[in-house]
Amino acid sequence: MSGPVFTRTRAREYAEQMIRGRHATRAFRPDPVPGDILRAVFSLAGAAPSNSNAQPWRVEVVGGARRDRLADALRTAHAERRVTADYPYSEDMYAPVHRERRAAFGAGLYGALGIGPGDHPARAAYDAQSLGFYGAPHAAFLFVTGDGGPRLAADAGAYLQTLLLAMTAHGVASCPQGLLSLYADTVRDHLGVDEGKLLVGVSFGYADENAPVNRVATGRAALEATTTFHT
Ligand SMILES: Cc1cc2nc3c(=O)[nH]c(=O)nc-3n(C[C@H](O)[C@H](O)[C@H](O)COP(=O)(O)O)c2cc1C
Repeated sequence: MSGPVFTRTRAREYAEQMIRGRHATRAFRPDPVPGDILRAVFSLAGAAPSNSNAQPWRVEVVGGARRDRLADALRTAHAERRVTADYPYSEDMYAPVHRERRAAFGAGLYGALGIGPGDHPARAAYDAQSLGFYGAPHAAFLFVTGDGGPRLAADAGAYLQTLLLAMTAHGVASCPQGLLSLYADTVRDHLGVDEGKLLVGVSFGYADENAPVNRVATGRAALEATTTFHT
């Protein structure tokens, strides 16, 4: 009798640790993730759910010289303003409450970096620099296949969180970066991808534990603000 109860308790504890223990990491050590761990992480991520189990995603993982060349290409595309987003981006998509949360997040992040609230050039420079994957030795690019529409992007979203948690379980730190998806053609050309729409990139590797930027805390909305129980 005590076995299953113990297992459930442990599962709850692990879920708390994994889900609440995952944080976006924005400074990495250069050490690559060993190949067997890469395979284990992406194999586990593939267990993500999807509508009718269609699994409408394609994932491209880079490291080494290919990663370095792609980072250069992304920074060049940014400098030349060659934005090619498969999923258009606009600030208008956010409601006022989202804007408040984004502002609070930005204050915490840029504050940790010593960048003042009105220092737009410094913020822009940091964003441009982040196209180098925050120094991570690897990046993964998540493409939505099929028609790439919002229904299939929802499946890819489930894959994304499963991937982040699989990384957490293996001690691998990560930062999902929507910014990387603004240069979809650059990524596609560089990796020879001819299928799918680029939803998001994920920089990953081992965290630089000493970097203050990795200690930025992000809160969450109260349960009642997002969830209604019709019970
Ligand atoms: C789809 C998606 C896109 C994101 N894009 C970026 C990005 O371009 N740059 C970045 O530094 N962080 C990005 N993030 C990380 C978020 O800022 C972060 O998840 C959020 O602030 C909550 O913090 P936490 O992940 O540490 O809990 C993204 C996260 C998601 C899920």
